[in-house]
Amino acid sequence: MIRRVSLILALSTVLLAVCGDIEKTAAQKVPTRSLKDLFKDDFLIGTAMNARQIEEKDSAGNGLIIRQFNAVTPENVMKAEIIHPGWDKYNFDLADKLVAFAERNNIKVNAHNLIWHSQLPPFVRNMKNTDSVRQYFENHITTLASRYDGKVYSWDVVNEALDEDGSLRKSIFLDKLGDDYVVEAFRLAQKAAPHTKLYYNDYNIEQPKKRAGAIALIKRIQAAGVRIDGIGIQGHWRADKVPMKDIEESIQAFSALGIDVMFTELDLGVLPNPWDHQTADVSQTAAGNEKMNPYANGLPDSVAQMQAKAYKDLFTLFLEYKKNVTRISFWGVNDGQSWLNNWPIPGRTNYPLLFDRDFKPKPAFYSVIATAKEK
Ligand code: G3I
Repeated sequence: MIRRVSLILALSTVLLAVCGDIEKTAAQKVPTRSLKDLFKDDFLIGTAMNARQIEEKDSAGNGLIIRQFNAVTPENVMKAEIIHPGWDKYNFDLADKLVAFAERNNIKVNAHNLIWHSQLPPFVRNMKNTDSVRQYFENHITTLASRYDGKVYSWDVVNEALDEDGSLRKSIFLDKLGDDYVVEAFRLAQKAAPHTKLYYNDYNIEQPKKRAGAIALIKRIQAAGVRIDGIGIQGHWRADKVPMKDIEESIQAFSALGIDVMFTELDLGVLPNPWDHQTADVSQTAAGNEKMNPYANGLPDSVAQMQAKAYKDLFTLFLEYKKNVTRISFWGVNDGQSWLNNWPIPGRTNYPLLFDRDFKPKPAFYSVIATAKEK
């Protein structure tokens, strides 16, 4: 009798172990629901796409983009220096490939960007003649906005036109076309792209002074009877100091203008910046010292967890304002593809995004989807 009982016990132990493994294996195989699916009733979930992904040469990245995101922004290929390198010379190839990829995969494209003081083609950068600048400005906006009208969902019409104090940034456009150039850019875009949403996009506009400048700019566009549909707060923040109160106040303030609010280039860096260390030590150059690149060999779990909490807090806030927030876009697919590995110091190892260098979800990914399940 005892032998039979012990045999049954042994068998049940084995059975439990096997079931446990099956369950674990099954759990590993059961795909977590995707970001775009979990937030489909709240806001679009997007990412920046680099040239390799647009040419579909990054199979792991492209797979993740198709599975996880329903919006994409070209990181660089629709910027003037690439798409419009000469008076009558346009390179539409990569932009067209992006539009085709997005169409095939039911993804919305936020085209980026029409007017920006940076990454201007050399033939524009040094222009002295006001008429030439005006001609370029009108040609560029009209050609691009009309070509992609109905093919892209939206445009970042003007990018980063403000200084930190909320005044208009000094640029060739302000200098040659005067302080109405932002309104004129939206007027031209509205005429050329009646089926496309038109946005203003900038960083630090959650900060009160710059936010006030952005509000004034939006009101100026609206007062001119010109269409502006939304504002993009870029969201390049440090995981250990996300300005939550400023962000919430900005969602409220921008929404009050009757426009969509989006977070368009979200990344939460985990590395120190040169300006964080007030050091007189001349050997502490910003380039290449260990202090500035502390996680070259891997991200400590404590830092990954801190970042996950920061992302969780952000998405909890976004969900609280889901009636006003229409898109959250990350500025890149995986940590290794982030601009923050090379800015402000080249050659560092940063970890700002939801997927690691092997395209695997990080704790931050799971903390973001947890906010959706807690809805
Ligand atoms: O493609 C060339 C390559 O051929 C060349 O060998 C290499 C070395 O010079 O440069 C490559 O171009 C670089 C490009 O990224 C593609 O990698 C440019 O030098 C580099 O300046 C460019 O940086 C981009 C930056 O904007 C400036 O345009 C970043 O990838 C991009 O993430 C960043 O994105 C901006 C947004 O557009 C606006 N908001 C801020 C955000 C971060 O700066």
